[in-house]
Amino acid sequence: MKTIDVCLSPELMPLYDVSNRTVVVVDILRATSCMVTAFANGVESITPFADLEQCLKMKTRGYITSGERDGKKVEGFDKGNSPFEYMDNQVLGMKVAFTTTNGTQAIEKSKEAKEVIIGSFLNLTSVVRYLLLGENPVLIVCAGWKGRVNLEDTLFAGAVVDKLKDYLGLDCDAPLAAQHLYNLAKGDMSKFLSESSHVKRLNRLNIYKDFEFCLTVDKYKVLPRLKNGVLVSH
Ligand code: MLT
Repeated sequence: MKTIDVCLSPELMPLYDVSNRTVVVVDILRATSCMVTAFANGVESITPFADLEQCLKMKTRGYITSGERDGKKVEGFDKGNSPFEYMDNQVLGMKVAFTTTNGTQAIEKSKEAKEVIIGSFLNLTSVVRYLLLGENPVLIVCAGWKGRVNLEDTLFAGAVVDKLKDYLGLDCDAPLAAQHLYNLAKGDMSKFLSESSHVKRLNRLNIYKDFEFCLTVDKYKVLPRLKNGVLVSH
């Protein structure tokens, strides 16, 4: 039976052999939610960078640069990390170079995987369908916060496990824990997350509307995936 596991922090990646797995990278607040929104609004590609300077250099090659550190837009970048900066076809046909505190670091750490896809609540059903139909065992990689576990990515992992539990075997206790947490939270995820560290951080930066938006389930159908180091959705 195909299996599913959850890596609760990118720091735990060395424990997993991903060479035969489909990895789902998730950073609900806000990197992967932002990427999914960008593709749904017509962006052509997103090149993820772990390093800020390398990302910024892409400006000279005609890329839109999108960057955030500690939730704040980085000086010199065209955009920050809010899904609202990627709406209304503002980015139609554009190539984006993207770097974030945790999300793009998690993608970097997942590069050895057989395949990498991008998950968020915004494209939850697309992710679940793809995993169900695919042949590979699955690992959900939660971006967390600077190596620490966070609640919102764990809830997303739990939602995926909950929908696939009858079809995929659970590899370890992390998927079980995530699923239990999701079942506790699903009635009111916004309330459940209100005390979480990154929600408090976003509140301090006055970006509460991003939080609410990123919890919207199935707003989009796109499924970004990594091809030769670049995210595309076709
Ligand atoms: C990240 O990658 O760490 C986040 O998306 C941070 C943020 O909210 O911008």
